[in-house]
Amino acid sequence: MTSLVIVTGGSAGIGRALLAHAPEGASRIDVSRRGCDLPGVEHVPADLADPSGWATVADVLADRIRAAEVDRITIVLNAGVIEPIGPAGRVDADGYTRSVLLNGAAPQVLGHRLLAALVDHPAERRELVLISSGAARTAYPGWSAYGAAKAATDHWARTVAAEQDGADRPVRVLAVAPGVVATDMQVAIRATDAADFPNVDRFRDLHASGELADPDDVAARLWRRLDDPGAGPVTDLRDA
Ligand SMILES: NC(=O)c1ccc[n+]([C@@H]2O[C@H](COP(=O)([O-])OP(=O)(O)OC[C@H]3O[C@@H](n4cnc5c(N)ncnc54)[C@H](OP(=O)(O)O)[C@@H]3O)[C@@H](O)[C@H]2O)c1
Repeated sequence: MTSLVIVTGGSAGIGRALLAHAPEGASRIDVSRRGCDLPGVEHVPADLADPSGWATVADVLADRIRAAEVDRITIVLNAGVIEPIGPAGRVDADGYTRSVLLNGAAPQVLGHRLLAALVDHPAERRELVLISSGAARTAYPGWSAYGAAKAATDHWARTVAAEQDGADRPVRVLAVAPGVVATDMQVAIRATDAADFPNVDRFRDLHASGELADPDDVAARLWRRLDDPGAGPVTDLRDA
C-alpha cells in the first residue's frame, strides 16, 4: 500500500516519532517552524499559532494531497505547546492567545480545510488524526488554555466523525490522547513553579520513577491504533 503522511509538529517529540514510524515507503511531510531532521521528509515551514498563515499552509497541503497517487493518506494534527502555564487572568496575554490559537483553533480550521481535500481523494484509506490529551478531561489548574483547547479538539473529532459516518466514503476522524510522553513538553512542565502549576510534583514523580512513555513506543502504538477499526473517535493510547 502506498501512503502519504502529513504531520504538524514533526520537528520534535511525538510528531517526529510518528514520521519515523510511518508506513514503509510513505511520502512524508512535516509542518513546523524548525523542520524534521529525518532524511526524505519534506518541510512546509509555518508558525501555526499565527492564523494569517493557515489558509496558505492548507492550500499547499491540499495541493500535495490532490497530486498524491496513493492508497492511504494520514494527516496528524499534532503541533502543540503547554506554555504559558499559570492561572487565567495572570499569565501573559499574548502567550495565552497563541496557545488558544495553536492548540485549539488551528486543528479545527486546518482540519476543516484538509478534510475538503481528503473527501474528494480516491485513496482507500483516509485518516485525520488530532493529538489530544488527558487534560481534555481533567481540569489541571494552570493549564486552562491548553486543557480547554484539547477538550475542543475531542469534541470536534466526535462531531466530524459523526458527520463522516453518514458519508458514502467516510474519512476516519480520531482524537488520540498519547499518555505522558518523554518530550520537551514534559521538560517544560517539570520546570514549572508549583505556584503556577500545583500538580507539578505528580509529573516530577512520574519522571523520577521512569513512568514516562517513550515517543517511539507511543508512535508505534498510534500507528497500530489506526489499524483497529473499532477505535475512536476519541481514544487514549493508555487504554488497551
Ligand atoms: N508529551 C506529553 O506528555 C503529551 C501528553 C499529552 C498530549 N501531548 C500532545 O502531543 C503533541 C506533541 O507534543 P510533544 O510532547 O511531542 O511536544 P514537543 O516535543 O514540545 O513538540 C512540539 C511540536 O509542536 C511544534 N510546534 C510548537 N509550536 C508550534 C507553532 N507555533 N507552529 C508550528 N509548530 C509548532 C514544534 O515544532 P517547532 O517548534 O519546530 O515549530 C514541535 O514539533 C501536542 O499536541 C501535545 O499537546 C503530549
